[in-house]
Amino acid sequence: MNILVTGGAGFIGSNFIRYLLGKDPDCHVTNLDKLTYCGNLENLADIENMPNYRFVRGDVTEVKRVEEVIRDVDCVINFAAETHVDRSIMNASEFIMTDAYGTYVLLEAARKYKTKRFLQISTDEVYGSIPSGAANEEDRLNPSNPYSASKAGADLLARSYYITYDFPVIVLRPSNNFGQYQYPEKLIPLFITNALMDMSMPLYGDGKNVRDWLYVEDTCRAIDLVLRDGKIGEVYNISGGSKKTNIEIAEIILKELNKPKELIKFVRDRPGHDRRYSIDGAKLERLGFVKKFVFEDAMKKTIDWYRQNRQWWEKIKSGDFKNYYKKQYAR
Ligand code: NAD
Ligand code: DAU
Repeated sequence: MNILVTGGAGFIGSNFIRYLLGKDPDCHVTNLDKLTYCGNLENLADIENMPNYRFVRGDVTEVKRVEEVIRDVDCVINFAAETHVDRSIMNASEFIMTDAYGTYVLLEAARKYKTKRFLQISTDEVYGSIPSGAANEEDRLNPSNPYSASKAGADLLARSYYITYDFPVIVLRPSNNFGQYQYPEKLIPLFITNALMDMSMPLYGDGKNVRDWLYVEDTCRAIDLVLRDGKIGEVYNISGGSKKTNIEIAEIILKELNKPKELIKFVRDRPGHDRRYSIDGAKLERLGFVKKFVFEDAMKKTIDWYRQNRQWWEKIKSGDFKNYYKKQYAR
């Protein structure tokens, strides 16, 4: 199988390529990535010389580039996106371009070259805040911030290609991921790396917002399952089944690293901050998905990875990241 992975130099994409090539040596993967601030080829250093892997630098909004790489593939898995909610609040334009328009460019090219399967990686954020219970795949989309609104646009557009053109699309909506190679602007890697540097952990609002945490390797297994057995035209939630408040996450990290509680610093809340994410993962379980990792063990593994890979995140935290943080706290 020839697969085009977009955004494969990012967090989930790089973990997915490693997982897939490790599991199925007959697969050929082309990774199309623009290498934005969070795209990092170091995430794939261990597999870059494999004969069945190819990296192409390019932007999913560029029709010519996209057509060049899509013409020979059987499947597309679209991970490419701007992904950080705080950045989308500061400036939404790249989110609309990459997440929504970029998905349109990919869908059009894939339709033109008759791609057999198109997996759109959406997000649980498209349901918006869920005060109680859990959202299932039939529930209405209710995004609250420019990131999730752009992703909801892409999600609906992808589904419209199935309904209108009978084009073989499947949409996946994973919950909050964590694990190795996650850019340290997101909650878990930010708090781990700050704690390792004895820097404060900025908790938004009252710290009681809830996220449903999913270990990245389980996400990769779920995507692989849907790639092979998922039903065309369907949507599948991927739930971590581990709901935690942000303050609980901070406390777990402090305990594991043996750092004082005084590192927690309550700061101004994120505008439009969704209180609680919660999705029902039963449909994917009916397809055969069983989570392999227990949250507590996966957190230990993740903390350990950041402890042992300081050179990976220290380089990031001493570069452009600093300017982003200056802007973020000036708001
Ligand atoms: P990430 O920010 O770590 O990586 C995104 C990748 O996309 C980077 O390599 C970047 O260079 C690339 N990219 C950005 N703009 C591009 C463009 N115009 N053309 C080509 N490449 C481009 O993201 P992630 O956390 O790995 O998320 C991957 C996907 O999964 C995204 O679609 C995201 O919305 C979705 N998702 C993420 C999570 C999560 O918790 N991380 C949860 C649910 C869904
Ligand atoms: O739910 C899936 C989504 O999860 C993905 O689609 C997004 O790409 C991904 O970024 C993530 O979005 P969140 O907004 O949930 O993730 P983030 O890591 O930014 O924040 C998680 C929670 O932690 C949220 O309630 C905000 C809070 N937070 C975050 C940061 C960065 C803090 O309290 N302090 C922080 O410094």
